[in-house]
Amino acid sequence: MRAVDIIIKKRDKQELTPEEIGFFIRGFTNGEIPDYQASAFAMAIMLNGMTPVETTELTLAMAHSGQVLDLTGIVDIAVDKHSSGGVGDKTSISVLPMVAACGLPVGKMSGRGLGFSGGTLDKLESIPGYRVDLSTEEFKKQLKEKGIVLTGQSMDLAPADGKMYALRDVTGTVPSLPLIASSIMSKKIAAGAQAIVLDVKMGLGAFMETLEDARELANLMVDIGRLAGRKTVALLSDMNQPLGAAVGNALEVIEAIDTLRGGGPADFREHCLHVASHVLVIGQRAKNLAEGRTMAEKSIADGSALEKFRVLVAAQGGDVSYVDDVSKFERAKFVEVVNAPRSGFISQVHARGVGEASVALGAGRAKKSDAVDHAVGFLIHKKVGDKVREGEQLFEVHANDRAKLDEARTAVLSAHEFRDEFVPPLPLFYE
Ligand code: URA
Repeated sequence: MRAVDIIIKKRDKQELTPEEIGFFIRGFTNGEIPDYQASAFAMAIMLNGMTPVETTELTLAMAHSGQVLDLTGIVDIAVDKHSSGGVGDKTSISVLPMVAACGLPVGKMSGRGLGFSGGTLDKLESIPGYRVDLSTEEFKKQLKEKGIVLTGQSMDLAPADGKMYALRDVTGTVPSLPLIASSIMSKKIAAGAQAIVLDVKMGLGAFMETLEDARELANLMVDIGRLAGRKTVALLSDMNQPLGAAVGNALEVIEAIDTLRGGGPADFREHCLHVASHVLVIGQRAKNLAEGRTMAEKSIADGSALEKFRVLVAAQGGDVSYVDDVSKFERAKFVEVVNAPRSGFISQVHARGVGEASVALGAGRAKKSDAVDHAVGFLIHKKVGDKVREGEQLFEVHANDRAKLDEARTAVLSAHEFRDEFVPPLPLFYE
């Protein structure tokens, strides 16, 4: 078998066999198939798609490209959550401590920024010292002892996805249903998750722009999960506008901490409570969503969720004093408040526009080797449906470069649209 023939077959819209998919993923993982062929392969899949059977094979091949964790004996039921990616989505940073504080241990492997969408690992690294490279042994030990882990994909778990993810970010091959489904589910299967809550985003700042596509992705992932013997549920949530106010690495961590303290933007807090309730139910810690919600709310009110976050940061080598005093986070050199150019109702805050502007400020990568700037980003003060007066604060730009600030201001201003007549707020969840 030759890699080039497999690429050509997919380029020509033919269905690949399990053997061909397995061959390609093995070769890519062990370095025999170079990045340029894997990029071409990803682009052929991006353009021509895959059948559900091919996607399942791709997922299983990636999941088994390294070790597959067995967490039995470490936790009663291994739960996990994963978002399909969006703008301002710092959900895991708040939800994991909430769930763990409710007595449900949770260990998660997260990703870095992908295209215009931010990544939990890049965000967490704005806490000095925080390690995202735990080995599998460290992962298991910390999960058993602390009941919470939030780390990156170690090279021995689904390494094929780790390599492919980095390539997709910089080769225009992110918004592909089979590539997203296999990327997410291979990580979940490899990390030993027995029960999984998927937060599938839909809208202008999601990789799936329509409810129909998001539903297809959700159903595909749920089917793959079930086929692999994992209990899986998917929520379809809105990503037309950024989630919460903060977009950018340190700014998002600060907002996640505020939320754990009982503050934070109302939409983000509500989103987290809903996701946490589902995780508590699937993890058999709560009988139903209402009970799960009460438990999650209590974890914030009694400070136990914030305390779990401290435990997490300390366990992974981070400087806990940043959790207690968020003014210690690195700040951008320039902070500019931008006011509303007119009065009216906000009818759009284009999430992708904001996400792309944030990457352009330096919060994401243009090339695989780029470093991210933790301090830059935005605080978006108004949501769709809000009534604003001309001159009222609309958003803040945090930048380390004057020229980039000017470009970001223009981009985020044009991401906002106004109407004279009433505009209803967007729902948080669709299904
Ligand atoms: N999250 C992932 O882990 N992979 C994707 O492809 C998209 C979001």
